[in-house]
Amino acid sequence: MNCFACGPSHRGINRKSLKKIIDESPDTKTLASFANIRYRKFNRKRKHLVHDTAKLGKGKTSAKIFSYRELRTATQNFHPENLIGEGGFGRVYKGYLKNTNQVVAVKQLDRNGFQGNKEFLVEVLILSLLRHPNLVNLVGYCVEGDQRILVYEYMPNGSLEDHLLEQEEGRKSLDWSTRMKIAEGTAKGLQYLHEVANPRVIYRDLKASNILLDEHFNPKLSDFGLAKLGPTGDKTHISTSVMGTFGYCAPEYAQTGKLTTKSDVYSFGVLFLEIITGRRVIDTSRPSEEQNLIIWAQPLFQDISRFALLADPLLERNYPINGLYQALAIAAMCLQEEASRPLISHVATAIGFLAMQGDEDEENSTEEEDEEKEEGEEEEDDDDEGGKGGGSNGDKESDRVDEEKKIIGNEKANCI
Ligand SMILES: Nc1ncnc2c1ncn2[C@@H]1O[C@H](COP(=O)(O)OP(=O)(O)OP(=O)(O)O)[C@@H](O)[C@H]1O
Ligand SMILES: [Mg+2]
Repeated sequence: MNCFACGPSHRGINRKSLKKIIDESPDTKTLASFANIRYRKFNRKRKHLVHDTAKLGKGKTSAKIFSYRELRTATQNFHPENLIGEGGFGRVYKGYLKNTNQVVAVKQLDRNGFQGNKEFLVEVLILSLLRHPNLVNLVGYCVEGDQRILVYEYMPNGSLEDHLLEQEEGRKSLDWSTRMKIAEGTAKGLQYLHEVANPRVIYRDLKASNILLDEHFNPKLSDFGLAKLGPTGDKTHISTSVMGTFGYCAPEYAQTGKLTTKSDVYSFGVLFLEIITGRRVIDTSRPSEEQNLIIWAQPLFQDISRFALLADPLLERNYPINGLYQALAIAAMCLQEEASRPLISHVATAIGFLAMQGDEDEENSTEEEDEEKEEGEEEEDDDDEGGKGGGSNGDKESDRVDEEKKIIGNEKANCI
């Protein structure tokens, strides 16, 4: 799914406010100079682009400057067999850097594409200056002639979208505990941008295709081309043209162009609901009343006895019921009107508990299964006639229904 302006407002950058941010952030020279570059770019001083990028890159970051030739070699001349994805920016290839023995992802800007130089610069500078385990690592970039190429660490498990929403035949679907860990890591990445980076950064493009997964399914945010420096001083929002991906945009931002960190919290709520339900936020292949995930989920959110209908059928009911209800309550809170949305740090902490709970349940259920197995073996030894425990599935089912009823009773007070 490509990025596009998700509302009618298309005012472009507000030069005055950008200059103000720079002036008001004297301590944050590096990020301010990033804003300055953007300012200059908007003045169409394109010749400064290459120079400024190289200057900042060399002086303040570990990102390497690659020649086009090096990247051609790394990707076997951008061979179609090495193509791993394509988005609004251009094509992404798998590559190998012989010198450093490193596998990388090489993203080549499509010169006819609609995202461009501005996004390239913001991406290079944000990823060069900010570091966190839940942000993808930028290995380097290439600015040669009209080539604009970004080189990232290679993420062997691709994007969350690949695993959650574009299920390939034969691929195991993500289990509950992995889903909670991905949501927790994503929230921590946002927390770093909102609460640690100085000035704050508003990500603006949270969606499943921008969450990349390493070999252990740890999530990392990628694609910072639309990111914005957050408000400084006492200000609560910045005004900007409305950009992002349809469906993930917070309604107040889409309507007014008022961007706050809470806009990202809304997008997180949408993403978290996708993680729980396995449904795309906008899916035109579904019946009309189910095409918009948020509209479809709304009546179900109101009725706790129907909460289980919101769980991805691919989970095959393998989730802690309590965990499901709590996860839905968190998603619902993130989707509330702006003032009532929680801070992303609170969301990260709450989901952290759910991720731990998933682990404990797995451990317990493995222990229980072992015990059951042992007991079963003992019974088989003791009594050959009814030893296989034929009624156990039915018993488990009725236990589960009892458990659900109990939790529904307990949760009624907590949810929504
Ligand atoms: N560092 C990486 N490691 C592995 N795969 C990657 C990496 N970066 C991107 N990809 C793959 O390439 C795909 C396309 O990524 P890209 O960011 O260009 O587009 P997108 O996220 O689908 O759309 P948009 O342009 O709107 O962000 C991703 O979905 C992912 O599968
Ligand atoms: Mg992307």
